[in-house]
Amino acid sequence: MTFDADRLPGLRFGVATSSYQIEGATDVDGRGDSIWDVFGRVPGAIADGDTGEPGCDHYHRLEEDLDLLAWLGVDAYRFSIAWPRVLPDGQRLEPRGLAFYDRLVDGLLARGITPLATLYHWDLPQALETAGGWAQRSIVDAFATYARIVTEHLGDRVRDWSTLNEPWCSAFLGYDVGVHAPGVRSPRRAVAATHHLLLAHGRGSRVMREVLGDGANIGIVLNPAPVRPASDAAEDHAAAALGDAIRNRVWTDPLFRGIYPDEVLAAWEPIADLPALHRDGDLEEIAAPVDLLGLNYYTPVYIGARSQGHDGGTPAGPGQDELVELPGPEPTSEMGWTIDASGLYDLLVRLHADYGVPMAITETGGAFPDVPDAEGRVDDHDRISYLDRHLEAFAQAAQDGVDLRAFYVWTLLDNFEWAEGYKRTFGIVRVDRDTLERTPKASAHWYRELLASRSGSA
Ligand code: NOJ
Repeated sequence: MTFDADRLPGLRFGVATSSYQIEGATDVDGRGDSIWDVFGRVPGAIADGDTGEPGCDHYHRLEEDLDLLAWLGVDAYRFSIAWPRVLPDGQRLEPRGLAFYDRLVDGLLARGITPLATLYHWDLPQALETAGGWAQRSIVDAFATYARIVTEHLGDRVRDWSTLNEPWCSAFLGYDVGVHAPGVRSPRRAVAATHHLLLAHGRGSRVMREVLGDGANIGIVLNPAPVRPASDAAEDHAAAALGDAIRNRVWTDPLFRGIYPDEVLAAWEPIADLPALHRDGDLEEIAAPVDLLGLNYYTPVYIGARSQGHDGGTPAGPGQDELVELPGPEPTSEMGWTIDASGLYDLLVRLHADYGVPMAITETGGAFPDVPDAEGRVDDHDRISYLDRHLEAFAQAAQDGVDLRAFYVWTLLDNFEWAEGYKRTFGIVRVDRDTLERTPKASAHWYRELLASRSGSA
């Protein structure tokens, strides 16, 4: 262990999860289908035909998982609430769904762990998708209603909230490239989803502030990535600059400056009816005050211009077929993502300079081979080294004046990694796929020691 947690006094350390990835129990206590349940029934949509069942069966193993968090010694726990547990058909309230989150929150508080709740981590009620999903403007009020119900119920005990997790994935992966639920391939609907996600954040956060009153922290979690040119060619530099606007500033400029970048509007104009989509007052609503910007960081991205002859890759944004996102250099994690902690430092320094908003790392971590020994123990030095280097970059940014409040490791448990199913593991605790037994990996022991080594810890 090299990282000295005393370099970051007063900072919150935690772990993060999300509802659909761990809960399982998808048809228990009145829960309705989410878009991921339906997507999982499409042949070939998810690796190995995996689905959110059984997840980690966290719904039924709550006490055990709360004890695991206490054993780790985390200050805070970031989780998400499953919208289709609370409003199974998008309208009707299901008290048993809310009651699960009562047990979770009360269990955290009883163990001295601060909850950070995310309202939307991708499990949209299918009924709302059938009504048009994020591509339809009515979703904005549906989200604000859901935000009101949940904060009215839990707001006496939960003071730290995020509206959305990684809306780029919801809009782009869900409605443009279609590799995430709902599996739509329509640049036009992806542009509409982007705007409605931003607006839902703005309207939702205003409602939440009304309900929660003073002293609450309300934010959003984004996954901006430092964009690097695929080569030194001038065309690739230009592609990377446009890629940065399309991937990153499309979220942060409206949120913190109340404007869409001009180059994004120009790229969208041919594929969307912008005058119908962007109505008067929307940008003011989107730019509602944000107390904390959560960042999920995994890797820099590499973007080039197709005219440079780059083969393969994926489009970099709706309708942006001339921009291509390419695999980055080695070393990579099991996801094929370049491991580069300097990207985290660059990102933090740049966002601080551009927007000056307090920030937290709400996720970082890696998928590694994770081969267990006969007792199910995993000696994941690769993950320890990943986390250690990213903590170092994070601490360096804090030392250089970036306003940082918290650091959450992704993730507590090996879980359902979306389109990759269960074959990619990010957990610091192994979950045996046959028995669902939890076994802390070497990285969990490492993190536990790091947290316990802080001055003032028991
Ligand atoms: C970010 C997402 O929020 C999370 O759900 C996912 O598992 C990790 N990235 C790893 O891909």
